[in-house]
Amino acid sequence: MSTTKVGLLGFGTIGTGVVRNFQRNASIMQQRLGHNIQLVKIADLDLETDRGVQLPPGVLTADVEDVISDPDIDIVIELIGGYEPAKKFILKAIENGKHIVTANKALMAVHGEEIITAANKNDVSVMFEAAVGGGIPIISAIKENLCSNEFSAILGILNGTCNFILTKMTEEGSDFAPVLKEAQELGYAEADPTFDIEGVDTAHKIALLSALCFGTTVDFDHVYTEGISNITSVDIQFAEQMGYKIKLLAIGKNHGNQIEVRVHPTMIPGSYQLAGINGVFNAVRLNGDFVGPTLLYGSGAGMDATASAVMGDVMAISRDQASGATSRVPIMGYRADQIKSLPIKAMSEIVSHYYLRFTTIEKPGVLAKIAGCLGKYNISIQSMIQPEGDSVDSVSIVLMTHSAKEGDVSSALKEIASLDIISQPTCLIRVEHDLD
Ligand code: HSE
Repeated sequence: MSTTKVGLLGFGTIGTGVVRNFQRNASIMQQRLGHNIQLVKIADLDLETDRGVQLPPGVLTADVEDVISDPDIDIVIELIGGYEPAKKFILKAIENGKHIVTANKALMAVHGEEIITAANKNDVSVMFEAAVGGGIPIISAIKENLCSNEFSAILGILNGTCNFILTKMTEEGSDFAPVLKEAQELGYAEADPTFDIEGVDTAHKIALLSALCFGTTVDFDHVYTEGISNITSVDIQFAEQMGYKIKLLAIGKNHGNQIEVRVHPTMIPGSYQLAGINGVFNAVRLNGDFVGPTLLYGSGAGMDATASAVMGDVMAISRDQASGATSRVPIMGYRADQIKSLPIKAMSEIVSHYYLRFTTIEKPGVLAKIAGCLGKYNISIQSMIQPEGDSVDSVSIVLMTHSAKEGDVSSALKEIASLDIISQPTCLIRVEHDLD
């Protein structure tokens, strides 16, 4: 029976999960493949820490060359994360004829083209299911199971840390900082948690998913990215009163000659399935023209769920290899010569409903001035809350608008900010009703 030999770069949380999966389910994998997969080398600078797993002598090494230049190794799993040295190691491994499995969303979202071009040139595969949605098989769903569909939209809750924080803030009224600390202790957050809370991690993921769904390159620099660090329990409570939940939503939409790719806190009606995705769980809602709306849900972060996605990719490559194929399914789901370069719609052009919370002084005519400015820019008010009992220099006026163009909303808010009635910056949260 043949054996696929695998090397691993990075023996951290996910790397440990990969070892556990190899060790516990080796016979299941063998039964499914008809051949063996063996983890032969693991490279990490830290040779001391006890990860709670036993390795045969000689497997762990501090020298990355023992993995990327070992002629016996077929597949290199990269779990170092970040741009460098991960990119350098991956490119060298590709040059050496290794297939790559990576969980590195930052690298694939920003430098994916370079890596994929190198892989195609060297006739090796690159798979990255673990880069998006932890254990949820969203990438293979887009590339394989749903590949006869044209996708109009993809919306996702793609960051477990943010969803965990927003859920706890909503359900328990907790403050932001201690909940972030808890998420870090549970191993959900990135090494630099600002990538989580400022939406960058989510932006990497939706850039990849939009590219896969719409058959285009996505210029990551043009993905609008706003995180949850300015979300307060005040807005969570007003959202609840109006029947909405606040989620960090990743949005990809296909308009034919251009796409929308954006990440920001978003109010969604409490009755929608995405509003009920809580804790560290992730979910992705895809809309395909034949399959219709489809929701994939599961663990979006953590050792074992992410290891499951890594190992699924390792097994897929191993199967291809056993049948003499490489990238039977193209790396980005479309044949390389068919991938377009669609521009991303400017934020000023997007159309949405808006939640606006103004903090004003208390005096006659304040509401009229705000409504007048909004009206001037063609923004229609759908509903309003003005709670009683605020102090005279700090009155909350909460408005929900009908559909409006973001450029008009920005102009109106700029004009309102210049009025002498505003005592604190206005809070804006986009509202998504139309999930198609
Ligand atoms: N930091 C990420 C999250 C891990 O919180 O979802 C998975 O990419």
